[in-house]
Amino acid sequence: MRKKLTITSIKKSKNSKPLVMITAYDALFARLVSQSADMILVGDSLNMSFAGESDTLSATLDQMIYHTKAVCTGAPESFIVADMPFGTYVNKKEALKNSIKMFQETSCDCVKIEGGADKANIVKYLCKNGIAVCGHIGLLPQSVRGEGGYKVKGRTEEEAKQLIADAKAIESAGAFCMVIEGVKAEVAKEVASSVSIPVIGIGAGIDVDGQVLVFSDMLGLFEEFTPKFVKKYLDGASLVRDAVSTYAGEVQKKEFPSEEHTY
Ligand code: KIV
Repeated sequence: MRKKLTITSIKKSKNSKPLVMITAYDALFARLVSQSADMILVGDSLNMSFAGESDTLSATLDQMIYHTKAVCTGAPESFIVADMPFGTYVNKKEALKNSIKMFQETSCDCVKIEGGADKANIVKYLCKNGIAVCGHIGLLPQSVRGEGGYKVKGRTEEEAKQLIADAKAIESAGAFCMVIEGVKAEVAKEVASSVSIPVIGIGAGIDVDGQVLVFSDMLGLFEEFTPKFVKKYLDGASLVRDAVSTYAGEVQKKEFPSEEHTY
């Protein structure tokens, strides 16, 4: 069994060991990924790959709590990051009330909130009140409707400067690490070297302090669309379809159950 990471060990990993983060939404997959992952993210991406919605916006706090509980149960020795869903941290008071609910009803280790300098006051307030925070800057999936699509960030000098300012603001506010999503690699590299906490990338190139992928993307289970940054380590969807088709064929031909699977 792996030793559970702590906020201190995660911070110390900066410049020494790349962090491995992966999402999980249930106990079954949490148990499977926990052997290799340093941190498990209960991402609100579950609203797309688990619930079948077209974006993350309709995930509710109660749904995130339900999935986070399952992940904590499946991987009790893992460091668990719980995504705060859209609309649950619009101001300091709401953010604290909802994060306390997440902390009280699950055993997650921290919450993740999307936003940069504009959310620094909220990050600071949560940290001051005993809630550990992982930031999330760059492409913010919860802003997809507001921005009219998923837009890669760091394409202009101005955006690059803003990202560095965002990272610094989140760090100063007390976040112990952050995710950087959908950012030009050379800019993500600059961002990572401008702060002293780990910056974990997704679609942000190699020169950051770790990587995160959505499990259903990297296992090839989610087929609706595949962003450029996703590497499929398994053709999960084909494997599942083939297995179910074999099962269906055996049931129809009355080959299953055989003696071996009969009492
Ligand atoms: O919800 C999620 O899975 C995430 C990752 C894309 C980082 O936030």
